[in-house]
Amino acid sequence: MSLDNFIEFRNVGFAYGSRPILENLDLAVPRGKLVAVMGGSGSGKTTLLRLISGQLRPNVGQVRVDGRDVAGMSRDELYRHRRRMGMLFQFGALFTDLNVEDNVAFPLREHTRLPDSMIRDLVTMKLEAVGLRGTQPLMPAELSGGMARRVALARAIALDPQLMLYDEPFTGLDPISLGVIALLIKKLNDALGTTAVMVTHDVHKSLEIVDHVLFLAAGKVVAQGSPDEVRRSDAPWVQQFINGEADGPVHFTYPAGRSLAADLGLQGDGHA
Ligand SMILES: Nc1ncnc2c1ncn2[C@@H]1O[C@H](COP(=O)(O)OP(=O)(O)OP(=O)(O)O)[C@@H](O)[C@H]1O
Ligand SMILES: [Mg+2]
Repeated sequence: MSLDNFIEFRNVGFAYGSRPILENLDLAVPRGKLVAVMGGSGSGKTTLLRLISGQLRPNVGQVRVDGRDVAGMSRDELYRHRRRMGMLFQFGALFTDLNVEDNVAFPLREHTRLPDSMIRDLVTMKLEAVGLRGTQPLMPAELSGGMARRVALARAIALDPQLMLYDEPFTGLDPISLGVIALLIKKLNDALGTTAVMVTHDVHKSLEIVDHVLFLAAGKVVAQGSPDEVRRSDAPWVQQFINGEADGPVHFTYPAGRSLAADLGLQGDGHA
């Protein structure tokens, strides 16, 4: 494995029961990079994140993170693996009965034995990093959707993760909050040198912030490149994705009879 790759999938196959989701999947995420994964609903994006976090194990092949085979990790190693990882999921809700401070402090109390005064200082730093200084006493119900997402982000970075996994971090946000979260994700990645994998449907916003894009379809990476390469790509269905065309020159037939555009959930209204 190349030392420069923080995550590597080698010939990974994964099925839920008898239903294959990923097949012969190879991918690499270079250390310190922010990589977007795009693909239709049900194409296996969340499954891919769960393979990285070790919640799932491949049936075939290897998932390597920081040079280590995730499937070969003992319980203790898996615990340490997850401790080095931050996750922000679409429905990764805050604990509604805890205020902002206790929400962000939660992983610190769970995983460290730091004195409470230090935990409070760390919480303050994390909240400052997401632009929410002074919100410690607020309850989740008192936050806007965008603020709640930023608190969840502060909680996700509480333990200074080496790896961040984002699953649709923009969903349900208004365009301004979406822009703020996107910029934060980018800034945190640059500032902390974190490697990050972000599943998203938002092609345009992610092309602005990520280093690399992977397109997932039919269980494999079917196209990839830098944002510029993706924008310049004349691969018809990459264009279909970017331009949000419901019907393009290429009809992918997986599973039988369904078009890729339909599977990508594209509306054909000119917006992805
Ligand atoms: N625990 C499970 N048991 C059985 N099938 C599952 C399970 N989780 C997901 N699936 C199926 O596996 C496929 C891939 O699921 P996954 O959640 O990875 O898709 P996705 O690309 O994240 O989709 P979306 O964009 O809708 O979130 C889907 O068809 C889904 O129905
Ligand atoms: Mg998903």
